[in-house]
Amino acid sequence: MDDLKRQAAARALDYVSDGMRLGLGTGSTAKHFVELLGARVQAGLKVIGVPTSEATRADAQRCGVPLTTLDEIDHLDLTVDGTDEVDSDLNLIKGGGGALLREKIVAAASDRMIVIADDSKWVDALGRFPLPIEVVPFGLGATRRAIEASFAASGVSGEISLRKGKDGHAFVTDGGHWIVDAHLGRIPDARRLAASLSLIPGVMEHGLFIGLASTVILAGASGIRVVDRR
Ligand code: A5P
Repeated sequence: MDDLKRQAAARALDYVSDGMRLGLGTGSTAKHFVELLGARVQAGLKVIGVPTSEATRADAQRCGVPLTTLDEIDHLDLTVDGTDEVDSDLNLIKGGGGALLREKIVAAASDRMIVIADDSKWVDALGRFPLPIEVVPFGLGATRRAIEASFAASGVSGEISLRKGKDGHAFVTDGGHWIVDAHLGRIPDARRLAASLSLIPGVMEHGLFIGLASTVILAGASGIRVVDRR
């Protein structure tokens, strides 16, 4: 599996050229991309990156990839990131690693988003992977109830659990928020659910990435498949 992730990451390098401003994703697949990019930088490639998490910042620094912020530059040419699920419309569930808020800010600031994954991430319908929703700790009970009402209005249902860290305490994101994971099974209308969740005051962001990915690179046992958004 790790080899497939690296193959997808390697293919994404074909889309990178000198002078590009890059969004650098988070997770085990994106980590391969950062390492391979670092090798190219050592060989003379001139790029600058914006990391989507503190973990990716550390990886990029270790690999020698120069970094900047979205305050210093006004947009990005390309973001390369992993995913937890991708459907045939190239809508995604992201946030399994807890970086969804920065990932979505960076993807939305990019001209193009390329998703890299092993082909187990390709699904008929989103929702088998629990949907991460980043929430503000204050008033969590009220936010939970609003999320449940949003589910009912969007035709989905399922358990919501607070994500815990290794220490048993609530997992804390890079932005200082918490995450609840929604076990929905199947999301028939992801666009509708995404719009509804975005209206809830205590929800900082959710892991549905609608219309953001332009290309997905899937690595499987029989080779690499590249799918562009229709
Ligand atoms: C991080 O928050 C996530 O969105 C990751 O991009 C996603 O979980 C994919 O991670 P892997 O590449 O480790 O499967």
